[in-house]
Amino acid sequence: MKAILLNDFGGPEVMAFGETRNPEFNSNQVLIRVHATSVNRPDVIQRQGNYPPPPGESSILGLEAAGTIEAVGKDVPIWQAGDRVTALVGGGGYAELVAAWPGHLIRIPDSISFNEAACIPETFLTAYLVLFLLGRLSDGEAVLLHGGGGGVNTAAIQLCRALIRDCKIIVTASTAKLERVAELGADHVVDYRTQEFSSEVRGLTDGQGVDVILDHVGGPYLAGNMRCLAVDGRLLQIGVSEGAQCEINLALLMVKRQQIIGSVLRSRSVEEKADIIRSFTERVMPFFEKGVMVPLISDVLPLAHAAEGHRIMESSRHFGKIVLAVNPENA
Ligand SMILES: NC(=O)c1ccc[n+]([C@@H]2O[C@H](COP(=O)([O-])OP(=O)(O)OC[C@H]3O[C@@H](n4cnc5c(N)ncnc54)[C@H](OP(=O)(O)O)[C@@H]3O)[C@@H](O)[C@H]2O)c1
Repeated sequence: MKAILLNDFGGPEVMAFGETRNPEFNSNQVLIRVHATSVNRPDVIQRQGNYPPPPGESSILGLEAAGTIEAVGKDVPIWQAGDRVTALVGGGGYAELVAAWPGHLIRIPDSISFNEAACIPETFLTAYLVLFLLGRLSDGEAVLLHGGGGGVNTAAIQLCRALIRDCKIIVTASTAKLERVAELGADHVVDYRTQEFSSEVRGLTDGQGVDVILDHVGGPYLAGNMRCLAVDGRLLQIGVSEGAQCEINLALLMVKRQQIIGSVLRSRSVEEKADIIRSFTERVMPFFEKGVMVPLISDVLPLAHAAEGHRIMESSRHFGKIVLAVNPENA
């Protein structure tokens, strides 16, 4: 099959479009013919050599893939060859074929294209897991999302809007993305380049702070996050893009009864991921079927141009997701 292969770790130039062996799949898995995949920030970190795939996963980049089932292992119930699916995979998405666990598949509604479906698993599942299953975001609560123009947070804004009644959604973004973040559903936007976010958030919540924060920035944001997190608030940490080390005021954490919860989706067990996907399919997929939720696509490139997709992501020019079309005739 054709795939994106890494010659080395480093910049986007280490990615090459070439031939490699078809993936193996066992009797409990399915093989998917990939029509589209999409770029996630963890792919960039893996390419740089700082995010190795978990044991047993493909070393090919790519955490999600949409396509049709090519072959079904003999012990797999329900799924059939030809089914249109989008899959969460531990690796291997930047390729013509990928192996996946049946519990990690989501049936693609007729109203959704393969390109759109390729933008659902990694970002929507991450946001759903941390905000709703771990963060217990509830009706009437306020949430702060950092980086509203990214893949995870364009999903998070839509999820908060659709699943929570009377949710106050506050979103940080860079200047050029503020307007689009507001159009997508944020109640308030904060320009993280020119404004100090924790004072803004306190002002927007009558000094109370927000109940839940989704952060991927890390160390430099911890003190500000704790300052504008309410009593009994939950801080969900899913990345450390600007540093993993910092000081923490444990007295504040204790007095405000705050919780800091870390999560990585990729390293979870096959069963845990299947449970998350089952819950997501029941609760969230109906919103896609009705057209209430739409994966936001910023750019579509052929798989062979994956390096350009990484350059776009690293320069933060995108708003939403960067799709890699593997079989453009089936977009
Ligand atoms: N733990 C997990 O399970 C998991 C799963 C998936 C992703 N992640 C992590 O989640 C993060 C987002 O991933 P993604 O794929 O959505 O990446 P992405 O599309 O690049 O989104 C990141 C966004 O953050 C904004 N940003 C950058 N610096 C910021 C700052 N200091 N304050 C506020 N916003 C800032 C960026 O744009 P502007 O600078 O232009 O505003 C961009 O819109 C990454 O760190 C990734 O590693 C974690």
